[in-house]
Amino acid sequence: MKQFKEIELFQRSQLSIWTDEYIAKNMLNAHLDKLSDGASRNELVIEKTIDWINSQIHASSNIIDLGCGPGIYASKLAKLGHTVLGIDFNIESIKYAKQHNEIENRTSYRYANYLEDSFEGTYSVAMMIYCDFSALLPNEQKIILSKIRNGLADDGLFIFDVFEKEILDKNPKKRTWSMSEGNDFWCKDPYFLLEEVKHFNDFNRIAYRHFVINQQSRDIKEYITWDGYYNSESIGNLLKENGFKIKTIKKNLIDNTNFKSNDIMFVVAEKMNNYDN
Ligand SMILES: C[S@@+](CC[C@H](N)C(=O)[O-])C[C@H]1O[C@@H](n2cnc3c(N)ncnc32)[C@H](O)[C@@H]1O
Repeated sequence: MKQFKEIELFQRSQLSIWTDEYIAKNMLNAHLDKLSDGASRNELVIEKTIDWINSQIHASSNIIDLGCGPGIYASKLAKLGHTVLGIDFNIESIKYAKQHNEIENRTSYRYANYLEDSFEGTYSVAMMIYCDFSALLPNEQKIILSKIRNGLADDGLFIFDVFEKEILDKNPKKRTWSMSEGNDFWCKDPYFLLEEVKHFNDFNRIAYRHFVINQQSRDIKEYITWDGYYNSESIGNLLKENGFKIKTIKKNLIDNTNFKSNDIMFVVAEKMNNYDN
């Protein structure tokens, strides 16, 4: 039997909650639940965020939405006159986006891993919404920032959101277990769920580990995800090291969500022209 050890710093599990065949379908349902903040934020907050993003960008922008999910933001921005390419590696979300969220030749959707894909074209805006940038590990953040830099026009913007420190209090350290009859988010069959939240304070990171133990097959699946948290200075430094500078920081845009933390900082970053990597 496989041996499970303590979660190590920046450890990734082999399985991912975003691409697991069973969970991907439930993830899509969570995205589409207009009241929930589980995968996409609730509808009111999304509308507020769209208004804010629209106020930060030029009319008829050419946008790339990294981790677009089922195309909720992409379709709304397309309706406002922008052109959007959405990229996501949840096949169910991309299928849904293509079927339900295509807007008059102004949207397109691609099933791809944005850490491996190349973004041809000169986009005016790259966006990554719902703290996906926070969920990336340092080496992945470097990769994505370099890809975004290459994909953006000279005056292009990168718009994203990250967690702040309050996420630590909202997600205290824990090790718990529970049982389920199945047919829910984690598993079709009855299962045991072992959950762990571990803080890596020196690295401003939280790790979440879920073991799903199928009661029938005894099969064990392990999923590890991460969240990083930032302040204006630390996000500014990270951006600067990777060829971006902060244009605007917007706090308190989000006030009524119930998932993980409301303590979010939205960032508009612009490409630094004299950056030599
Ligand atoms: C928290 S959800 C947010 C979705 C969307 N931005 C929204 O707010 O409605 C994160 C999304 O990023 C996608 N994702 C995560 N890592 C990815 C990767 N490496 N390549 C492509 N998509 C990724 C997931 O599949 C998921 O749809």
